[in-house]
Amino acid sequence: MTRCLDESDIMMADEGFTTRDLLDNLLLELSQKGSRDAFFVADLEEVVKKHVRLLKALPRLKPFYALKCNGSKGVVQTLAGLGAGFSCASKAEMALVKRLGVAPERILCASPCKPASLIRYAASQGVQLMTFDSDVELGKVARSHPCARMILRLATDDGRPSPRLSLKFGATLKTCRHLLEMAKEMKVEVVGVSFHTESSCPDPQRFAQAIADARLVFEVGAELGYKMHLLDVGGGFPGSEDSRGRFEETAAVVSSALDLYFPEGCGVEIVAELGRYYVDSAFTLVVNIVAKKEVPLDQPGSEDEDPGGKKSFLYHVNDGVYGSFGSVLFNNVCPTPVLLKKPPPDQPLHSSSFWGPTGDGLDRIVDGVELPELHLGDWLIFENMGAYTVPAPPPLGGGEQPAIYYTMSRVAWEAVQLLQGKVLHPEEEDRENTCAPLSCGWEITDTLCVAPVFTPASIM
Ligand SMILES: Cc1ncc(COP(=O)(O)O)c(C=O)c1O
Repeated sequence: MTRCLDESDIMMADEGFTTRDLLDNLLLELSQKGSRDAFFVADLEEVVKKHVRLLKALPRLKPFYALKCNGSKGVVQTLAGLGAGFSCASKAEMALVKRLGVAPERILCASPCKPASLIRYAASQGVQLMTFDSDVELGKVARSHPCARMILRLATDDGRPSPRLSLKFGATLKTCRHLLEMAKEMKVEVVGVSFHTESSCPDPQRFAQAIADARLVFEVGAELGYKMHLLDVGGGFPGSEDSRGRFEETAAVVSSALDLYFPEGCGVEIVAELGRYYVDSAFTLVVNIVAKKEVPLDQPGSEDEDPGGKKSFLYHVNDGVYGSFGSVLFNNVCPTPVLLKKPPPDQPLHSSSFWGPTGDGLDRIVDGVELPELHLGDWLIFENMGAYTVPAPPPLGGGEQPAIYYTMSRVAWEAVQLLQGKVLHPEEEDRENTCAPLSCGWEITDTLCVAPVFTPASIM
């Protein structure tokens, strides 16, 4: 049985209570304790709403959460409880979801370049779905996991002029026939095709192209006698509110490409490995200023050539690119700090740069932000900090991670319990099976009658 999140893990909020209200209360509590440590507030209601929004926009799609994106307990247990599958890239990630009681059919081993030890571990745990993009990978799987059901990962067009394909991962259309022939020779079963456009894919048309390419591979497979029945459209869906419009746009493009190339009833299950989409907007990071320096405006590194009475400040905060701001280095993300209180309009603004605590030249979070002068001990808020900020296993070297305070409104919690099939009150027992909508007025509840997310037997 899947281990779900416990009520005691969550700060239950009244309806209408915002993350900001909660943050103010938390900061008051922390300051009374004298704590200035960085921390996250994670609004799990946001994760649940995303799940329902996805099922509504793309009802054929079965989500496998990409665990590497954010392995926090609250997210993983919430999604496990909602019936999502998990896309794992390491033994630690797979062990985590196995410990939660997630069935092996709901786990996909996503990396196309797996160490043999990971393949053996997957085999020992009954995890069969895994991706490949080379004959070397096929050879490893043939030797270590005879029951594996392989998904051929296709390269996608990365939108750059040259080279046209993102060749780091994925096979080109040209090599797919050869790989399918090799799989036959090695007696490795191939059940489908996958691709991954790019995290927060800027051009939804790339999904359409990749789905069309996948259709071609299905045709080649059919010529070779394969009966493939799984299409994995990867991740790449936008994750934050400022890109809200783009989610609907991406979903519309994916939906019409699926209708064209893999119409309903064609016998192909559609799955996705979504990471950022689920978590980005749910997490807010709060950091504290631990060091400050005024930078002379003529000093290298200061941006303003003609100061006009302005100052420039450099602040160090207690989290950096080697911690929760890793996306600055790896995904070119540009986080924007928000102040706890809006400054009065007449307060002078100064060019401000923010650095992590290491003193390392790469540990720069953001610079050139126009803000009033800040002080040691001031708190700063960074929104949309859920993606690629919290690893599943402890970080390398066992470094400390910021605490995570989970929150959700009471009505959302009750809706989740129903989605998980739990009975809240005895009189609701009958309603549970008939899937009547809740009458709590929460915006997702009109969509609670979604079909069970998983039908593992049909995937396998
Ligand atoms: C194969 C694969 N699938 C899914 C994802 C998740 O992508 P996103 O966070 O954009 O949803 C990644 C991220 O790198 C990936 O490599």
